[in-house]
Amino acid sequence: MPDASFPTSRPRRLRRTAALRELVRETRLEASDLVYPMFIDDRGPRRQPIPSMPGIDRLSVEAAIEEAGAAFEEGIRAVLLFGLPASKDARGSRADRPDGVIQRSLRALRGALPDLVLITDVCLCEYTDHGHCGILDGDRVANDPTLERLAAQAVSHGAAGADIVAPSDMMDGRVGAIRASLDEAHLEDVAILSYAVKYASAFYGPFRDAADSAPAFGDRRGYQMDVRNADEAIREVRFDIAEGADLVMVKPALPNLDILRRVKDEFRMPTAAYQVSGEYAMIEAAGANGWLDADAASLEAVRAIRRAGADLIVTYAARRLARVLCLR
Ligand code: PBG
Repeated sequence: MPDASFPTSRPRRLRRTAALRELVRETRLEASDLVYPMFIDDRGPRRQPIPSMPGIDRLSVEAAIEEAGAAFEEGIRAVLLFGLPASKDARGSRADRPDGVIQRSLRALRGALPDLVLITDVCLCEYTDHGHCGILDGDRVANDPTLERLAAQAVSHGAAGADIVAPSDMMDGRVGAIRASLDEAHLEDVAILSYAVKYASAFYGPFRDAADSAPAFGDRRGYQMDVRNADEAIREVRFDIAEGADLVMVKPALPNLDILRRVKDEFRMPTAAYQVSGEYAMIEAAGANGWLDADAASLEAVRAIRRAGADLIVTYAARRLARVLCLR
């Protein structure tokens, strides 16, 4: 049956007032849909601003509890933790130590904020002196030897209280290796959020400043996905679900909304999107210059990400958005 057309049909009738628009909105966004990433630094002062990510600091463990508490007050229910270790080496030895920065943070956060969902990034790039996401064999990241290290890191996070571990390394088979090791350690309740579709991206630039994880040589194109590929993204997600992923993620978010929609439609899994550091920095920089309204632009971007199929959104703007959402 064809829709009535103008002048019978006037879509503007339902756009006339805020209350009408609210009534017919198709997408809802709440602070509890957002995941707030935090950088916890074992070396630095309590708080150290990250120049390319205005409003985001590297935090000490104590400052992280304070920051997570403030975010919780504003309605945010989940954090994603990245660790900057006291020192780095070729194998990323500090990634799986029980007294590592993330493991200590997990115990402290669990004690201080029992209802906060604790998610940890599982990857070696913050812990290796070469900055690559795994163990090197010459100048190549060796897939299979890396799996063991990632599984050990995930188990140590689970043992320290992580609700969800989130592997971001893009090694083949890591979800299965992590699931098997968690189960063997009787951590069967720890969930896996797989960075299933992670493109090699220029938009990670500010993150690498923040996490001090830029590769010392080469780039990550040998393991992260090529932005020209879409069918491959579907295969990546299928493999990760088969290996035991509980949630799947697409990243970066805004340049890949088509992929997000395909992943949601194809698998109907809990689906996350990561609005990455460069996406955040663009909006913040333009906002600081008075070139756009950063509150409005963040809200629009994150709503579009939600509309494209994300159930949850990882964003550095989580606190900004929580405040904006509660003023509306
Ligand atoms: C670690 C990791 C990265 C990001 C999340 N986990 C960086 C990378 O792959 O280089 C990027 C997040 C962001 O840019 O906000 N592998």
